[in-house]
Amino acid sequence: MKKRTFKVTPWEVSGKIDYDNLISDFGLRPLKFLPKVFNKLPLFRRGIVFAHRDFKRIADVIEDKKKFVMMTGLMPFGKFHFGHMAVANQIVFYQSLGAKIYLAVADVEAYNTRNPDMKELRETAIEEYLTNYIALGLKPNNCDFYFQSQRSKHGKKANAYYSLANLLARHATFNEFKAIYGEISPGKMISALLQASDMLHAQLPEFENPVPIIVPVGADQDPHLRLARDISQRIKLYKFIQLSSTYLKFIPGLKGVNTKMSSSDSNSYIALTDSPETVTTKIKKHAFSGGRGSVTEHRKLGGNPDVDVSFQYLRMFFEPNDKKLKKIEDDYKSGALLTSELKEYLIKKINSFLDKHQKARKDARKKLKKFIYH
Ligand code: TRP
Repeated sequence: MKKRTFKVTPWEVSGKIDYDNLISDFGLRPLKFLPKVFNKLPLFRRGIVFAHRDFKRIADVIEDKKKFVMMTGLMPFGKFHFGHMAVANQIVFYQSLGAKIYLAVADVEAYNTRNPDMKELRETAIEEYLTNYIALGLKPNNCDFYFQSQRSKHGKKANAYYSLANLLARHATFNEFKAIYGEISPGKMISALLQASDMLHAQLPEFENPVPIIVPVGADQDPHLRLARDISQRIKLYKFIQLSSTYLKFIPGLKGVNTKMSSSDSNSYIALTDSPETVTTKIKKHAFSGGRGSVTEHRKLGGNPDVDVSFQYLRMFFEPNDKKLKKIEDDYKSGALLTSELKEYLIKKINSFLDKHQKARKDARKKLKKFIYH
């Protein structure tokens, strides 16, 4: 592999990511052909979900109205922000297409790879993640939400899930782990195998039997998919349908298009529980601007929407109207639209969304019980 100035692994993401290089390094496919319904979501239409493995299988089952599962997982740390929302939007979308939803809270992984307070982690999973998913439209029907440490209250199901992780271990080699992950600890190995079981166990007889599964994730999760895909095809006891996956670009942090939203720095993200005042301050003070140093200069030379975080948030989430987005882009480039105006527009959009969302969160709290436990 050529020397890169960026690093993308499940446990470390750094540098300026070149997504074309990432596609070739990982052996992904660019996501080009999508069933029409996917155009509803700006994330798909505008290429923020940018790559895939075996997506055609999912496109086909959607077209043929056949059964499929969408499976993904979350590490419950910190506040639920736009980065998490990008995954949530896809979950809700797949559920609306008829997918059965499997959602894993990666508490075992969190324990193995960081040093969390387990009680707080549990609360974050419910209070931040699940509550926001519900407020964003997740329905309890056809949704199996679980913790890795407590798969199910039904013994047979729980046993099947944990046994699968062990069975997968039996079919993996240490060299394979080293080739995929580089340096790896026993805790990380266990996490990778449990995640493989997360992704595959819906196909067991205790769950759905063999079924196409789509795993929408951030690009950093691909090593886990490679491992799970490889091992699954070696197992004779079950005939697993190969996993499908799609990859989301990293949602930029406020400080620049090449930064990430980091839960340890509250000025790097906007949380779905932020107040209108906080949103205003964060955008005005911290959102990196592609505008010029002075109004005169900006009017003359125009701004650069590609590096402008406010413009990028409009593109990714808050301006679904393609014509309007194009006009904003053109006006910004020509200098007709100032940074302050662009930011005002975004602030209005975010705050009107959050106003509705935060009301929906109150309702969502009442529904939490319907999601836990199966
Ligand atoms: N490793 C994922 C993360 O860090 C969480 C996760 C656990 C997951 N199990 C999964 C993601 C299964 C996708 C599918 O966020």
